[in-house]
This record gives sequence, C-alpha cells and structure tokens, in this order.
Amino acid sequence: MRGRDAKRETMSIGVFDSGVGGLTVHRALVERFPQADFVYLADQANAPYGGRPGEEIVDLTKAGCIRLFDEGASLIVLACNTASAIALRRLQQTWLPGYRRETGRPLNVLGIIVPTIEAATGMPWEHEADRRDEQVTKVDVLGVFSTPGTANSRVFEIEIDKRKQDLAVFSEPCPNLARMIEENADREALAGEIAGHVDALRRRIGRHPDRAVLGCTHYEIVADLFRDALPPGTPLIHQPGATAEALGRYMERHPEYVAGGTGQRRFLTTGTPGPQNGLVGSFWGEPLAFEGA
Ligand code: DGL
Repeated sequence: MRGRDAKRETMSIGVFDSGVGGLTVHRALVERFPQADFVYLADQANAPYGGRPGEEIVDLTKAGCIRLFDEGASLIVLACNTASAIALRRLQQTWLPGYRRETGRPLNVLGIIVPTIEAATGMPWEHEADRRDEQVTKVDVLGVFSTPGTANSRVFEIEIDKRKQDLAVFSEPCPNLARMIEENADREALAGEIAGHVDALRRRIGRHPDRAVLGCTHYEIVADLFRDALPPGTPLIHQPGATAEALGRYMERHPEYVAGGTGQRRFLTTGTPGPQNGLVGSFWGEPLAFEGA
C-alpha cells in the first residue's frame, strides 16, 4: 500500500503491457495528450503472456494494474491485446468496483480491443447489427495476427460478427513473435517468421486478406516487415492511433480523468532495469531506460 498512500494526489495515465510492445501505444497516447503525466509498466519478468493459461493472465494483469494505481495512475490503458482479450472484462466486473470503493478514487481500466474493432468496422462499439433483413452481397476478409491467447479467445471474430456481417475474420496465431521481438531477434529472423505467418494465413483463407490488424502491440514495432510480407497496399489497422482517438473520446465523456499534468514520463519494468533492446531503440528514436518496478 506504500505507493497508494504516498502518490494519491497525483493523477497520471498508466499504460500496461507484458513488455515493450505497449510502447507503440504509449507513443501515440503521448502525442495525443502531451501535457498528461504517464507511467508505463512492462511486466517483462513474466513476458510473454501469449501462451500462458488464462487465469495467470488475469492475475498478472491485476497485479500490474495495482502497481500502476499505486504509482498514481487513475486511468490505465492495457496496451496488450492478450490482457485486454482475456483479463479486462473479468477485472472490470469482479475486482475493480470493490477496489475503487476501497481506495475512494476514480479509477478505471480500458483495453485496446474495442478501439481496434471500432477502427476495423468503422462503427462505434455500441452498434450491433440487426440481422433480420440483411442481404450481404460481398464479404471482405480481415486478417488478425495475434498471440495464441488472443486468437484462442476469438474476441475479434465474435465481436466483429455482432457488428458487421460483411467482414469475415481469420486469426493467425504467432506463438514466437512477441518473444522474438522482446529478445531483440535480428530482422532477418523476424522477416522469415512473419513471412511464414502471412503465408499460413493466405493458405487458410485461400487468398490474402483485404486488410489486416497487427493484433499484438509488439508487432507494430516491426510493422514494416508485415507490410513487406503482405501484398503491396494491404491496409493495416493501427492500434496505437485507434487507441489514442478512442481515449480522446473517453476523456470528453469522463472529464474526471483529465488530470492536467506536467508531461512527466516514467517507465517501469518488473524485469531487468536499464536500457531497452535495440529494436525498441530504433523504433523509439532515442535511448530509453526503464526503472525497476
Ligand atoms: N503485446 C502483447 C499483446 O498485445 C503481449 C504479447 C505477449 O506477451 O505475448 O498481446
């Protein structure tokens, strides 16, 4: 409870991921809210999440949220598809209301699947299709590259099917990719891995998808390699921008989370503190060192 008492007065936006992937979302949020204070937590001691059992992902995500709330965050963005797909609803329903009462603070946790689906369908989340008289004449195919955890949850298939019958979703689980990015694999190895998944998805669909979601925040770090492996011009739905836009709309509806701030940025890791790996360095554009969480 140390941080909870000490840092209660400050109010920042928390950003959570198993590792460095969430930095892609963090950067877009910082661009959108330059004055806000941010604290980023990478649970690198437990990364990757994508192949872990669901209950572990729930427990680890909850621990990460508590850590960020202790650091003064009032609003947390789970910049992790796996945590958003598997843990978010459970935490919002079974844990957060009691925790909010216990602390007496306005606290919330948001995910990145909803903004992504809004961007993929072009429809607000509230929209659910009325299927009665529907005549679908052409179906576009959306490919979703993700961790096995996100793919097994079928969240993109289920939620898009409720909203847009002319968009068929095919997920491609990529069991090694987040770990390879986290471990700073060389770009040639990453390009080979990504080309293999693009080809596996093509074979499963029978053709390439019409558009694609990089449904794991780590993949955005190597978005150029996905672009090279997919047919030229395949539109990619970018989660960072979609999440920043959605957070802007959320803040308008919930001004209690607009905290002022002085543009502070802190980066914490449950893993080894210090500079992050080279892939992240080149994506971030300047050296980035993490403090121990
Ligand atoms: N970056 C995360 C995601 O969006 C987690 C990847 C992992 O830890 O497996 O799913």
